[in-house]
Amino acid sequence: MPKLPAPPVPSSLKSPPPRPGESGGPASPVDQAIAARNSVVDWVDERTSLTGAVRWMMFRKVPKGTNWFYTLGSATMFAFLNQAVTGVFLAMYYRPSPAGGAYESIRYITNDVFLGAFVRGMHKWGATVMVVLIFLHMARTFFFGAYKYPRELNWVIGVALLILTMVMGFTGYLLPFDERSYWATVVGVNINGTGPLIGPYLSDFLRAGPEFGADTLSRFYAIHMMLVPGAIAALIGAHLYLVAKLGTTAPPWTKAQKNPKLRRTEA
Ligand code: HEM
Repeated sequence: MPKLPAPPVPSSLKSPPPRPGESGGPASPVDQAIAARNSVVDWVDERTSLTGAVRWMMFRKVPKGTNWFYTLGSATMFAFLNQAVTGVFLAMYYRPSPAGGAYESIRYITNDVFLGAFVRGMHKWGATVMVVLIFLHMARTFFFGAYKYPRELNWVIGVALLILTMVMGFTGYLLPFDERSYWATVVGVNINGTGPLIGPYLSDFLRAGPEFGADTLSRFYAIHMMLVPGAIAALIGAHLYLVAKLGTTAPPWTKAQKNPKLRRTEA
């Protein structure tokens, strides 16, 4: 059977003509792939100047003595990304309705969906991992004195991230809608109601009215998968911007090198 000719290589994937002095042999597929990647990056950069921002963010000097404890923030971010990705797959099958089968949809995910138990397990245990990591990261920044001037605002943003992470845990706990999650949430909402001034309003808001009902579950679901993850993503962006702008703190045990030029000489 006659063979069809291969389709022509698009001109954008062809490597540029050789410079004077270079051998003009055909470029290897790897060279062509590199040239194609470069031309895509150049095209985007010419229109956005994004590579400058990426270089500013990624290629930073770090203080002497930087160690594994400095990876806890990135580890927390990775845990958050894991929650976001696995959460999207869970949302494809979850039904946030008490009568319409929140509980049944969770059972379906666990027992019948391909890799459902694995993805649910990643999301459930990932939540615990994120809480553990965020506390370890906070302890690192506290014990290294990273909350001091000029990083106070980053500490405050961190506190907001901590509260929002707790809200994620609280709102996610109701979603399986079994006996335990239902009654644990009743207790949690009642505890919120005992807070001063805003307590009763807060518990009314969480319940979506004076009684627990179908709207409570929808409200928790909306808070859990839209409101709070969006806020966390935005705050992580601000947090990382400040880390890149201010740099990270040196470990407290490193000593500044003595600069003889700065020594005061008595006249
Ligand atoms: C979703 C939660 C969080 C993420 C993804 C996150 C991420 C990061 C990353 C990647 C860094 C830079 C590297 C490092 O020091 O680990 C950092 C630094 C920092 N974070 Fe967080 N963080 C979170 C929560 C918090 C919390 C709860 C606090 C404190 C209440 C906090 C306070 C700080 C401070 C003060 C720095 C500056 C550290 C320095 O200058 O050495 N962060 N964070």
